[in-house]
Amino acid sequence: MRAYSRAQGLQVVFDRCDALGISYSPARKPGASGGAGADRRRARKTRAFLAGGLPAGAPPAGRRQSLPGSSTPRPMLGYIRSLRKTTVALIDKREFVGLDGVAHLCTGGEAPWPRSHTTTCERFGALKSGGMAGREEMFAIEERARARAARVLGVAPAEVAFLAHSSEGLNQAVRSVEWRAGDNVVFADLEYPSSIYPAAMLRERGVEARVVRTRAHYLSLDDLAALVDRRTRLILASQVSYLTGQRLDLARCADIAHGVGGRLAVDATHAAGVVPVPGGACDFVVSSCYKWLLPPTGSASSLHRRRE
Ligand SMILES: Cc1ncc(COP(=O)(O)O)c(C=O)c1O
Repeated sequence: MRAYSRAQGLQVVFDRCDALGISYSPARKPGASGGAGADRRRARKTRAFLAGGLPAGAPPAGRRQSLPGSSTPRPMLGYIRSLRKTTVALIDKREFVGLDGVAHLCTGGEAPWPRSHTTTCERFGALKSGGMAGREEMFAIEERARARAARVLGVAPAEVAFLAHSSEGLNQAVRSVEWRAGDNVVFADLEYPSSIYPAAMLRERGVEARVVRTRAHYLSLDDLAALVDRRTRLILASQVSYLTGQRLDLARCADIAHGVGGRLAVDATHAAGVVPVPGGACDFVVSSCYKWLLPPTGSASSLHRRRE
């Protein structure tokens, strides 16, 4: 287990907060202050905030992204305090199983179970037993879900596939590249193991795994670009880091990859459903859905696009 200093820990939390656009405000009951109208206004602001990124008044990017421990986090602290006045839970916690008296802060690991899932599972059972009519309805539901996933990933529905795991999608992405000995794949040292393992396995085929060293857990895209050359066939990156919450500029990552004729594969697990995913800029996007998108474990969506 890596030990974090307090300043590093704070910065990690601030980056996470920055990436997700949420505040630390304690859970409040809808209507507790200001009535339903005030709740609706706060929810509207929160949604606009999540859709559009940071609002006016947020500290400048350089300050927000300062290296852990290298500067005082005070501006971010004031900003987070100000958010308390504008954020409200998008989903009432009473709509989840088992959250009574619990402050659930680990959706990045495993989301709690929405009560509506229980009804949905029962409906699935009924449709599964319902012969061809049940099947037809399941297909229609799948297409509606695909259209919604496409909106989350910022792409067309036909480009979206449903898989059991995002690890499976990343494996497919890595394997779909026509590798030649001497090629290389580039990724950061704090990527999730499901990115690192398939890339490291390529060594058997003479492909070099180039690891970008992060500095105090911060990934610099200049450092990433410095490892990329004409033999780079693939860059693997997380839109939002599972470890630090750092949110990458994927348009820049795509430019770096495409500039040398390579491809960009993105793990959007900690971004999908929270911040916009610019899927159109990427060649592959995977998202493990049982976190911020709330479905059960064993559900992932994946986008694979061929760029000639
Ligand atoms: C960033 C990231 N990618 C992938 C995974 C694994 O997802 P899956 O179980 O869908 O393969 C996780 C799980 O914690 C994760 O945090």
